[in-house]
Order: sequence, then structure tokens, then C-alpha cells
Amino acid sequence: MTPPSDRNGATTKTLFIKSYGCQMNVYDSARMTEALAPLGYRVTGTAQDADMVILNTCHIREKATEKVFSELGRLRRLKSGSNERGRRMLLAVAGCVAQAEGEEIVARAPYVDFVFGPQTYHRLPEMVLRAERELDSGSKGASVIDTEFPVESKFDHLPKNRQSAVSNFLTVQEGCNKFCSFCVVPYTRGAEMSRPVQAILEEAIGLIDDGTLEITLLGQNVNAYHGVGPDGREWGLGRLIRRLSELDGLERIRYTTSHPRDMDDDLIATHAEVPQLMPYLHLPIQSGSNRVLDTMNRKHDRAFYLRLVEQLRSVRPDLALSSDFIVGHPSETDTDFADTLALVREVGFAQAYSFKFSPRPGTPAANGKQINAVTRTDRLQSLQQLLAAQQLAFNIASVGSIQPVLAERLGQHAGQLLGRGPYMQPVHFNGPKRLRGTVVDVRITAGYANSLAGTIDIGEPDEIIGSANERSLES
Ligand code: SAH
Ligand code: SF4
Ligand code: F3S
Repeated sequence: MTPPSDRNGATTKTLFIKSYGCQMNVYDSARMTEALAPLGYRVTGTAQDADMVILNTCHIREKATEKVFSELGRLRRLKSGSNERGRRMLLAVAGCVAQAEGEEIVARAPYVDFVFGPQTYHRLPEMVLRAERELDSGSKGASVIDTEFPVESKFDHLPKNRQSAVSNFLTVQEGCNKFCSFCVVPYTRGAEMSRPVQAILEEAIGLIDDGTLEITLLGQNVNAYHGVGPDGREWGLGRLIRRLSELDGLERIRYTTSHPRDMDDDLIATHAEVPQLMPYLHLPIQSGSNRVLDTMNRKHDRAFYLRLVEQLRSVRPDLALSSDFIVGHPSETDTDFADTLALVREVGFAQAYSFKFSPRPGTPAANGKQINAVTRTDRLQSLQQLLAAQQLAFNIASVGSIQPVLAERLGQHAGQLLGRGPYMQPVHFNGPKRLRGTVVDVRITAGYANSLAGTIDIGEPDEIIGSANERSLES
């Protein structure tokens, strides 16, 4: 049977990409999809019927890495099953585990066709064509490993970013030079780099033309952004955001993840000056103890963070904060942990992520004196209880307010829409389908642990629908 062809006459093949880890992997997976489209690959929802499967992996904690190896075990059966049925399946491992453990992957899972790191996925079409040729000729050689940090930038070699959602990611910065004691990112993503302003503007305009209303600027240290502007000078993130806010049709701007050290005055002022910049900031602190922060090599202390929060709230009083915490970092005492709880009480977070310390190979903290597992579990539980209570209180406090919600998709129930408010919580409300893809004013009627419910004023439905549509067209 002849395989189906697409418009350009290329044979249509199916591609399944599974992303683990952070938002940058989600962005990268979307770009890989674009890079493979000219070869005839179209996305499919399951690995079952895919001609090619890519696992875009995360190395941040041990569990994340383990998941990859167990998934590879499952895919091995699928791959040999597909061979038996006379089909062929290419299997690839991408992302941060690929970067850190390329050789080990190939040793443990020799059936993987190729392994490539976060900086080489623009070479994916070449790798795929070669692997396809080898499969066709029956001369399948050894697995290919491409985990270089190449001189050329992948961004200069990727096709246009064509996302269909109304809210999309855009990588502006990648890599990290901070070397926190516990973290693999500087090793897996490499040294900090910033994309030029013009390239970012072009990508943003393309996304907006395709219907994007909200862009989240991504970077492992996004506020360390210092890309070259059209004037030949280095622009900081604040200036980049102000320029992006001038683009017609872009309703919302967010950025993540920030490091406290890189929150400069200009970026803080941008929160006051740019209405499109959402009043929500993910600002990881990791610990509330100065001693632990020092051991972590975080380059800031507790007072510095608190001052920053105060400054941000003074320019943008409705700003809500989110953070990351690690409990059980080597040498963390009960007193240190109590400092973390006290800091959380002092700041008050709308949301936060917290993790048990996981020793990562090659990082300094992996050699430190480890805290016992029971203590780590107990501390995580206490911290998560406190954070969950703050999150619920924050959500309940929004009841009665009217929030602009970006209606991203239809909900599970008939007549329901699902979107996100300024503070990122999912918001459910009933309304006509045509509101999908617009910003709608929603009166919040209930706050739950992880979401909000609301209503739109049905009093004069036409007027409401009209105003919502105008909003999306106007700005
Ligand atoms: N660039 C981001 C961090 C990305 S990793 C930043 O600087 O904040 C996301 C989070 O994972 C980190 O903030 C940290 O809380 C957590 N993390 C990183 N390494 C970890 C480790 N070894 N064990 C447990 N959690 C870790
Ligand atoms: Fe990792 Fe620290 Fe860099 Fe964040 S700032 S990516 S936690 S090394
Ligand atoms: Fe994971 Fe790499 Fe992101 S380690 S968190 S996928 S930068």
C-alpha cells in the first residue's frame, strides 16, 4: 500500500513527541515538529501508530530521569512489534537527559536510533533522513549521538514557529551561568545566551498573525536576558517587553523563570508601566535560610529577596508571586527549614512548587552530607501544607472580583469555557463558544485549591460578547 502524501507531495508519516520537564521543552518539542514537517511528519496523539517517537527529556531530578528509561522499555516492545508488522518506527531521545547521559542511553537502550541535545535539534531533519536511508537499505548502523554545543545557533536554522493556540511560548534566552549547587541546567543547557531582539520580534509577529494573544517569554534565567537590539546595543528584558507591548494584537505578556539577582530596576518599572504584562511573577527562592542559600550558591540572601518583593509590590500592588523551594538540601537543619516556613508566611504566595532535594550526578551538592529520607519527606509535607493553604486562601480571596480571562478552550461540560486569569489559575465559566480565543471579563464566584469558577454577566449577552470580541481585536 502506498503511504498517503501531503499537499507538497511528501509522504505523510506520523510523529509522536512526549515532553517532560519545563516549558522550554514544550517549546522545543513544538519547534522539532516544525523542523520535521518538510519531511512529511505530522503529529499523532499516541506512540502506538507513530512512525517516529521522540522523548524530549528532563534531567532535573532523579525521578524525571528514571521515567525516561522506563518509557524506553515500553517503547522497545512497541518498536519491535511495529517491525514485526512490517512497519518501522524511529526512536529518538532528546532534551536534557540526552545531553547529560547520551552514552549511557545508547548503552542501556541500543534500540534507540538517535540521541540529541537541546542545542542540536535543528540538525534533526539530517539525522532523520540518514536513519531512514539506513533503515531502507537494511544497513542500520550504530545509534547516532549529537550532544555538541555547536557554534551556530539552532534558532537561525529552524523554520517559522507556527503554533495554533492562543497562548504560546517564545524562547528568548537559554542556558545558565549561575551554577546553583544542586542544579544540572548549566551542564545540560549550556552557557547563557540571549537571542537578538529582531529575531524575537519576528517570531512574536508571526505568532500574533497566527492568532496568538498571549506570549510567555522563556529562559532558564529569562531576566538575565541581554540580547542585541536593532540599535546595536544590549537590551535588557524590561526593554524587550516594552517593545513587544507595542505589537498590535498582543494582549498579554508573561516571562519565566527569573532569578532574584537579575530583577533589575528597569524590569521592576516595566511591571508598573506595561499593562499587557500580567501581574504575576514566578520568582524562585529555594530556601528561606541564609546559611542554606549560601551553601546553594544562590548569590542572594533572604533580605535581598524580601526587599525585591516589597519593591515589586510597591510598583504593582496587585502583583502575585509564585516560587520554587527545595527541602533537604545537604546540611539543612530544622532551624533552616523553620526559616523557610517563616519566609513563606511573610511573603504569602499565590502558588509555589516544592521539591525534595535530589542529588544529581556532577553537581556539587551531590557530594554533600545527605539529609535522611524521612526528614526530607516530613519537611516537604509541612511546606506543601502551608503553600496549599496560601494558594486556597488566595483563590478564595478573588471571589467577587472581575478578572479578565483568556478563554483558551471549551470545557468538559456543555456550554463551559476554560481559560486563565491574570494569576494563571484555570477559570471555568459558562458562555457561548465564540468567546473561545478572546479575553472575557469573568466575575469569580468560587475559589478552589487549584482553580476558580465564575460567570459572565448574562444581563445583556450581546453587549458582553461584543465587548469581549472588541478587546481581542483592539489592542
Ligand atoms: N531556572 C530556574 C530553575 C529551573 S529548575 C531557576 O533558576 O529558578 C526548576 C526547579 O527545580 C528549581 O527552581 C528547583 O526548585 C528545582 N530543582 C532543581 N534542581 C533540583 C534538585 N537537584 N533537587 C530538587 N529540586 C531541584
Ligand atoms: Fe539552575 Fe540555579 Fe541556573 Fe536556576 S539559576 S537554572 S536553579 S543553576
Ligand atoms: Fe528539565 Fe532541562 Fe528543563 S533539566 S527543567 S528539561 S532545562
